[in-house]
Amino acid sequence: MRAWPGDRLLLGGDYNPEQWPEETLDDDVERMREAGVGFATVGVFAWALLEPDPGRYETAWLDRVLDRLHAADVVVDLATATASPPPWFARLHPEAMPVSREGLRLSHGSRQTWCPSSPAFRERSLALVDVLARRYAGHPALGMWHVGNEFGCHNLMCFCDTSAAHFRGWLQGRYGTPGDLAAGLDRLNEAWGTTFWSQRYTSWDDVVPPRLTTAIPNPTAELDWRRFCSDASLEQHLAERDLLHELSPGVPVTTNFMVGFSFEGLDYHRWAPHQDVVSNDHYLAAHLPDAHVELAMSADVTRGHAGGQPWVLMEHSTSAVNWQPVNTAKPPGQMLRDSLAHVARGADAVGFFQWRASRAGAEKYHSALLPHAGTDTRRWREVVELGRVLAACREVAGSRTVADVALVHDYEAMWTTDAASTPSQLHRYRDELRAWYGAAWRAGLGVQGEHPEADLTGYRVVLVPSLHLVSDAGAASIADAAAAGAQVLVTYFSGTVDPGDHIRLGGYPGAFRDLLGVRVEEFAPLLPGAEVGLRTPAGSAVPQLDRARGSVWSEWLRAAPGTDVVADFADGPTAGDPALTRRRVGDGAAWYCATRLAPAGTDAVVGALAEAAGARPVVPGLPAGVDAVRRRGDDGASWVFVLDHTGAGASVPLTGTDLVTGRNCSPGEPLEVAPGGVAVVREAGS
Ligand code: GAL
Repeated sequence: MRAWPGDRLLLGGDYNPEQWPEETLDDDVERMREAGVGFATVGVFAWALLEPDPGRYETAWLDRVLDRLHAADVVVDLATATASPPPWFARLHPEAMPVSREGLRLSHGSRQTWCPSSPAFRERSLALVDVLARRYAGHPALGMWHVGNEFGCHNLMCFCDTSAAHFRGWLQGRYGTPGDLAAGLDRLNEAWGTTFWSQRYTSWDDVVPPRLTTAIPNPTAELDWRRFCSDASLEQHLAERDLLHELSPGVPVTTNFMVGFSFEGLDYHRWAPHQDVVSNDHYLAAHLPDAHVELAMSADVTRGHAGGQPWVLMEHSTSAVNWQPVNTAKPPGQMLRDSLAHVARGADAVGFFQWRASRAGAEKYHSALLPHAGTDTRRWREVVELGRVLAACREVAGSRTVADVALVHDYEAMWTTDAASTPSQLHRYRDELRAWYGAAWRAGLGVQGEHPEADLTGYRVVLVPSLHLVSDAGAASIADAAAAGAQVLVTYFSGTVDPGDHIRLGGYPGAFRDLLGVRVEEFAPLLPGAEVGLRTPAGSAVPQLDRARGSVWSEWLRAAPGTDVVADFADGPTAGDPALTRRRVGDGAAWYCATRLAPAGTDAVVGALAEAAGARPVVPGLPAGVDAVRRRGDDGASWVFVLDHTGAGASVPLTGTDLVTGRNCSPGEPLEVAPGGVAVVREAGS
């Protein structure tokens, strides 16, 4: 398999020349050269032009686009164009239009309007992929294939009868014994706990997707439905990918993930192993005060999905998007900072939606590399500057981001934590992840997202926020990390259910009770606005927690002999019970936190974990809000990315050469990062 993007950092983005008169191509290519654009994702929404009538394909226009891009040394990430079928598809296959949970069949008229289980969609989409793969497999511009677009973004779940049959087949695969459907149904009844509320099934025909119903739907049915929906889209991806591998061998295939602040539909732990290159789309959450920290978490989680290897930032935005309630513009410098924040965390390509801002359509107010106002704009000059900086930092390509901290996360845990039947709707999985990631970010520690069953033994600190659902293997792997010397922190509502969403009996946090040396008798969630205070005993390992505040959650908790109480609840429903505990395990320790700590508390705990583990910030002593991340090459060379999010600039004690400015820095002449600015320092002697 060819490596992608290879030995340079690529700038690029979605390129939709079909929206423009053909003459625009000349100007596009000229401008791409000016900005140093190295890759273009072509054809994502071009099905209607490529197959204007069923079975009649028109590819001459795409030939011209690819030829021109190749001549300009722009590598093409060629889309299979299957994201959005043309209107004729809806006319010929009305049954392939998705059906909502409420039972409404949706109509074409926007995008991605198709049922993931539709045989007609599968057939028509693969016919298109076949045409494109045969035609372009050998084209010199082709660098990578791009399947669909953001699977699950708009059509994750379809509740139609075809999906219902597909779901039943999937369930039979999960619970069945070949040839013995009755035994499978028994197992399904057991797994779903259907004796509750008279839900017992006696015929497979009665098993349907969790359509709109009167009260809380069966939680395990809902969990299996989510698993199925992720797998149903993955089947489509794999069908396209397999055809591409067959017809276009050696060319990597990707599809763009949406690891970010809002999407939660696909289990990317299951998708990632099927990507030749992991790619992600990230858009800033304008409503978050610390959106840059959320960006960093997305990038660190994406790199985890890539197994620590470089990955591709397929899309982000030069400035405003068009789909948030208020679409704020990025102030000067932010686009460069955001871009390098992704590169620091392993992105070797920086893509945008999109090259040229559209004149028409739903996204005409979305920013682009080439804005409506043209090239005599601050935005364009920033784009050209970004191209220059990425070229100047070329030597970083292929290196790996250094991380001492694992952030253990899981989509199934998220789905079950955020389900309607849990103890508190105030407790959202992502909030807990963000709280602990944020503390590690503020401490300047390198973090990488990991699956619970991954090998975690190489990390110094392992954060396990609210891992509600965990397998025995996941719990064992987390325990192994502690035994191997890591400081492991597990937080409330973890380990509570098994992969069938059944309670692990005997006291929470079930799967982690022995590791942590604690037993929770009862949860005591807190009402909106309610807080609890903490206090610390003499000799506490985290004395800063004295008077710390918790919210959302508390617990009646017992610490086993040998487990230290680091802090307890000073007030609230569980006053006097432990709030933070620590148990020494092998060379490491296992900590348990029973409430949602305010940031001062999470910072104190992460500080204590890091100190006990010998995990050091990438650059010690930086002012709050200055981000420093290290990438290291196979040959030992290393680069420190410094990003100033404070707007005040920073003086940073590094020794080496800043690739952005070409200036040297040393103890006598520290690196001066401009307000809101960036630096990429090749460390001396590395
Ligand atoms: C992405 C999508 C692009 C474009 C962009 C706008 O989710 O892949 O096609 O819609 O958002 O922000």
